[in-house]
Amino acid sequence: MEYQIAKGVFDIIPQETSPEDAWKQSSYWQYVEQLARECANLFGFREIRTPLFEKTELFQRSVGTDTDIVSKEMYTFLDKGNRSLTLRPEGTAAVMRCFIEKKLDQQSQIHKFFYIEPMFRYERQQAGRYRQHHQFGVEVIGVNSPYQDVEVMSLLFTFLSRLGLKGLTLNLNSIGSKESRHQYKEALKAYLQPFLLELSEDSQTRFSTNPLRILDSKDARDRKILVEAPSILDFLDPSSQTHFETVCSLLKETHIPFVINPSLVRGLDYYNNTVFEITAQELGAQNSLGGGGRYDGLIKQLGGPDLPAFGFGTGLERVIQTMIAQNVELPKHPHPLLLLIPMGEIAMKKSFELLSLLRKDSLAVEMDFTGKKVKNALRYANHIHAQYIAVIGDQEIESGCLQLKEMATGETTFVAFNEISKRLKNG
Ligand code: HAM
Repeated sequence: MEYQIAKGVFDIIPQETSPEDAWKQSSYWQYVEQLARECANLFGFREIRTPLFEKTELFQRSVGTDTDIVSKEMYTFLDKGNRSLTLRPEGTAAVMRCFIEKKLDQQSQIHKFFYIEPMFRYERQQAGRYRQHHQFGVEVIGVNSPYQDVEVMSLLFTFLSRLGLKGLTLNLNSIGSKESRHQYKEALKAYLQPFLLELSEDSQTRFSTNPLRILDSKDARDRKILVEAPSILDFLDPSSQTHFETVCSLLKETHIPFVINPSLVRGLDYYNNTVFEITAQELGAQNSLGGGGRYDGLIKQLGGPDLPAFGFGTGLERVIQTMIAQNVELPKHPHPLLLLIPMGEIAMKKSFELLSLLRKDSLAVEMDFTGKKVKNALRYANHIHAQYIAVIGDQEIESGCLQLKEMATGETTFVAFNEISKRLKNG
């Protein structure tokens, strides 16, 4: 085969080609995206769409030059005008760029955006990590109340629960203010210094570039050393401490099960105070279904007004994989799907007329245009999972009545042409 798909990306297609690829079926994607929109609307979020690429500097300044995303994973290229551009690796920075550029703060004090978009990261190939992945994300700008944190976390929890996912854990932490984080970094480095040469290679590098990320290491030796490490929660200043306590008690009142995880630091530099991730056991090492947190300084840092913000991103690949692992079934097609099979030229014309009439009534109807044998048409009916078929020939045209055959049971019913719509709508 001359042309093959590039590494780390995948096609989303109507068919299931193998059980491992079941999550690439478009019916799952449509359903999940539709529910994401419904939940976002329910919580008062409105859609925003930003371009696929931005100036590289935007991601360097927001996500942070010492993060894996910026230092290793960005798809960066020069355009024909020699400008450095980058395929969006995450959604937050682009939404903030748009917010600042359009001066949206002048229109209202609070802004709630959501997006469903592909993101691009040059990842090492492994399960659950793709070079193009899709996120449902939300960003709310203008409120620094802990209630806001819990509303957003509750939106993600509602979305995942409405999909039918079980056994979800919300991991919660606070990484405090910039000042408290600075103090904590010093304490963490002082603790790790004697073990420096025993740490994994990645953690040794992070010791000088981004020590907080060592807490996130999956390396067994690192994890052992980290058991006795100081906790960031002991370094919170009074206002971060109160914020965190309120978030915890509101989560309890909202009945969202959560665990406090002082090692949760997230892989992007813009966060402060609350950070969170929702995990599912079925996903193995890459178990984060989605995560986010508060990022109060980012808009100002990018040259905009000093406004607080909070958001999350959830990876739809992992969401669908978890649905499949937990045997979540998709709801049935809302209307029965009928395949009309005309026999001969006159029947073809009559069926084509019927086809458009039924579609005007919003019924999902298809027609076999090939004019070949009924056997071929039946094969096609199976392929498209038609619930009903109807063969139309001279007799049907004369009588103005056709025989509706239910594929699953083989049951047949005579229905007048002008009654088909009513019959199908009644199921
Ligand atoms: P993130 O944790 O980097 O956060 O990504 C959010 C989610 O996207 C992850 O939890 C995971 O489900 C999914 N994800 C990330 N990378 C990949 C990948 N290579 N393959 C498959 N899935 C992936 C952000 O991007 C932040 N912008 C979230 C946010 C919004 N924070 C505040 N607002």
